[in-house]
Amino acid sequence: MISSKSITIFSDYEALSIAAADHVYQALHDGLQEKGKFVFGCATGGTPARFYQQLLSLLQQHPVSLRSFFTVNLDEYYPMPQSNEQSYYSWMKRIFWHPLQQMNLSFDYERQVLIPDGDVQDPRKEAKQYEDKIRTWGGIDVQILGIGENGHIGFNEPGSERGSRMRLVSLTESTRRTNAKFFGGDIQAVPKQAITMGVETILEAKEILVLVSGKQKAEIMKKIFSAAEPTSDIPATYLLKHPHTHWFFDTDAAALM
Ligand code: GLP
Repeated sequence: MISSKSITIFSDYEALSIAAADHVYQALHDGLQEKGKFVFGCATGGTPARFYQQLLSLLQQHPVSLRSFFTVNLDEYYPMPQSNEQSYYSWMKRIFWHPLQQMNLSFDYERQVLIPDGDVQDPRKEAKQYEDKIRTWGGIDVQILGIGENGHIGFNEPGSERGSRMRLVSLTESTRRTNAKFFGGDIQAVPKQAITMGVETILEAKEILVLVSGKQKAEIMKKIFSAAEPTSDIPATYLLKHPHTHWFFDTDAAALM
């Protein structure tokens, strides 16, 4: 074990999603009050879907002005136009930004969100501009993260270095196979590359909330928490050295720990 960390195990996916939404709602409420601004790092994937619904319902019940609330996404497939149904842009718009905009809390996703553009000619320039923008916004206050079955974070696949920054990466065969479920089960339809925040970019977030659900994650969780030292073979192990990372598991994901 590297060290004992902040870990909470919930009875199921629903309880985990509710607790994560409570946590983020409180952080954004306090951040907006204390600093007048909140920058929220968003993840996509199956795991955070229910969390976003819960967060929307908390904002509905306890409204706050979101004029100074900004969201920053981890990654996007490449090449991938925003207009494509399978883009993370479309997913975020459907699941979170659009319903949020409908709530009349002064949130405007044309102005307040940042997600890599998977349709650019020059991904390197896009990556540089993206990191600059995060810096201009004052850095990420709370980052939501999921974990890939091979231990990836964002799309930092095994082999990604601790110091890696936003960049174009190649996806592993196993990640493309896992994510084929979002592309009608067709691995050939899953892009071979992505633009992702780097490990270093992620670790610069002031606080990180890792959501892990389901028995298909139990094996990788066991590997992460039994690693002697962070290793590029399992990029999620770098999180164990981040001082303000909270791990939220359900019992299935924690079954082998
Ligand atoms: C994708 C995303 C990751 C996400 C991972 C796990 O590959 N790029 O950011 O954490 O999937 O997704 P899921 O929650 O569907 O297991």
